[in-house]
Amino acid sequence: MDSKISPSMMCADFLHLERDIKVFEDLNIDLLHIDVMDGVFVPNYTLGTDFVRVLKDNTKIPLDIHLMIERPEDKLDWFNFGVGDYVSFHYESTNHSQRVISEIKKRKAKAMLALNPATPLCVLEDLIGDLDAVLIMTVNPGYAGQKLVPQTIDKIKRLRQMHPDLEIEVDGNVSFNNAVIMHRAGANIFVAGSSSVFSHDGTLQENVAMLRAGVA
Ligand code: DX5
Ligand code: ZN
Repeated sequence: MDSKISPSMMCADFLHLERDIKVFEDLNIDLLHIDVMDGVFVPNYTLGTDFVRVLKDNTKIPLDIHLMIERPEDKLDWFNFGVGDYVSFHYESTNHSQRVISEIKKRKAKAMLALNPATPLCVLEDLIGDLDAVLIMTVNPGYAGQKLVPQTIDKIKRLRQMHPDLEIEVDGNVSFNNAVIMHRAGANIFVAGSSSVFSHDGTLQENVAMLRAGVA
């Protein structure tokens, strides 16, 4: 399965967003990851509806919207996502996962279910047939710059064994080194934040090239 890179826009330089999006377009970046936090499901705020709207209106790169919010079923209409976009929400954030999946698909986006490190794969059993992708959180959600929760690597392996054709996204400390391990374990979509694409050790171009080489 082809690897995809999804730069985590909460790590971007907001004073130079236009410039950096142009760089990502020139590099044929697959997706733009947008973290939406509500201060309740996770103890932080990040990007919101206006940010999603601005990106949606100004780039052809599909969006990868990661909802870390309580009761996503009440809030899908706040976002103008559509064909080609991925929308993930957390299993732990709602009693109505199946309803949220079908509401995302009604809006023509791809539905992805996110699992915290503590949430077992077995919760996927009656949902997997409806899903376009699964997001394995490799840190506890809420902050950039955290360390990998190591047992999530085996979780990726087990999910890949069960579902050879499923798209599996990883989010959290996807560093140049960890990305190689996650790719070998079976992940194919890599959320690239402060530990890779937005690392200050290289330019965006250099960082993307290094990450791509590791997950090719
Ligand atoms: C949370 C975010 C973070 C972050 C990823 O959902 O997506 O995981 O930006 O980048 P790192 O962990 O490399 O800072
Ligand atoms: Zn995320």
